[in-house]
Amino acid sequence: MPNAPLTQPVTQRRVDDAPAFVASPIIEARGLVKRYGEHVAVAGVDLAVGAGEVFGILGPNGAGKTTTLEMIEGLRKPDAGTVHVTGLDAVAESAAVRRAIGAQLQSTALFDYLSAAELVELFAGLYDADASTERVSGLLSMVGLEEKRTARVNEMSGGQQQRLSIALALVNQPKVVFLDEPTTGLDPQARRNLWQTVRNVRDGGATVVLTTHYMEEAEMLCNRVAIMDAGRVIACDTPAALIRRLGMAATIRTRVTAGHLSIHDLANLPAVTGTPLETDESQAIRLQTTDAQATLVALLQLADRHHVTLADLGSTQANLEDVFLSLTGRRYAGNGEGIEEFNGKRDRADGQRQPCGRRRRRLS
Ligand SMILES: Nc1ncnc2c1ncn2[C@@H]1O[C@H](COP(=O)(O)OP(=O)(O)OP(=O)(O)O)[C@@H](O)[C@H]1O
Ligand SMILES: [Mg+2]
Repeated sequence: MPNAPLTQPVTQRRVDDAPAFVASPIIEARGLVKRYGEHVAVAGVDLAVGAGEVFGILGPNGAGKTTTLEMIEGLRKPDAGTVHVTGLDAVAESAAVRRAIGAQLQSTALFDYLSAAELVELFAGLYDADASTERVSGLLSMVGLEEKRTARVNEMSGGQQQRLSIALALVNQPKVVFLDEPTTGLDPQARRNLWQTVRNVRDGGATVVLTTHYMEEAEMLCNRVAIMDAGRVIACDTPAALIRRLGMAATIRTRVTAGHLSIHDLANLPAVTGTPLETDESQAIRLQTTDAQATLVALLQLADRHHVTLADLGSTQANLEDVFLSLTGRRYAGNGEGIEEFNGKRDRADGQRQPCGRRRRRLS
């Protein structure tokens, strides 16, 4: 019975204060695998998403986020594993799944010369859904675009186009909405507007599954996150539980500009956990601590005793980037605004944002 619904909900790990299981999952994936020739894009993913959650899939380029999403959406056939969405089998009943869900793909082609309202009407017509003026207005206002009702797509900013594509994903009143990198390419203000849009969608009763590169976005927006790396889910829990499990409160960073501090002395500062990292060239120091104040005070005293000058001294609360680092041993390159560094696909060389929908994926 390979496609039977799962009886045991799936989560990666149990922590004391996080849901150990999802009582009535609206999405259940087990053992999802997708290969492209020799390359294993998704290497056995288990996920359970509860109704009403905003669930984030987080990870660097090529981690397998889009491929996983597409298999759940019934758009891509897994090589192995099962997936059920709203009780439907996403492989055997993929057409029914696609009708039941709303999906904003990582690349969406919109018709440049149609207005926002015309596009919503068109999509509603395709789904045989309510295309009344009230419904169209309701959808546009949910994504904050009511005043753009008559604006054509090619007259909208990238962020407005992103929000319009979310409105289009909602025309069929889906119970589950999938958003693939909805905020990539947006400035911080537009990103915050889009977060509000996602909350509006959730408050309207839908379950939202989104992918993102932005750790801080996942922390702000998602009830739970699955962190993916190299085709696997390496952690899945609430952001707070993932951070707490690290056993550290903060990271202290500084640089030695004159003199020298030994790793041994740094490791013995109060409340420091793990091994302090120091790079030879810049004498950059990174200390993880369970008590930032105690460590900072002692660090300054240590520097004083050794006649050492410190620069760029700062402390940041532990966050999902630290979780990624501790799980993979690699720094997560996409910290907030710096996404271009590792994403590389967002902007054109001239700094203009690509209009929505110039990249297409072939589905198989
Ligand atoms: N159609 C395809 N043919 C061959 N390889 C593919 C195809 N689609 C994806 N891959 C490969 O599968 C891996 C996972 O890709 P996927 O698009 O799922 O990653 P992602 O986590 O969504 O990345 P990004 O953050 O860049 O969107 C990558 O190594 C990618 O090159
Ligand atoms: Mg992707």
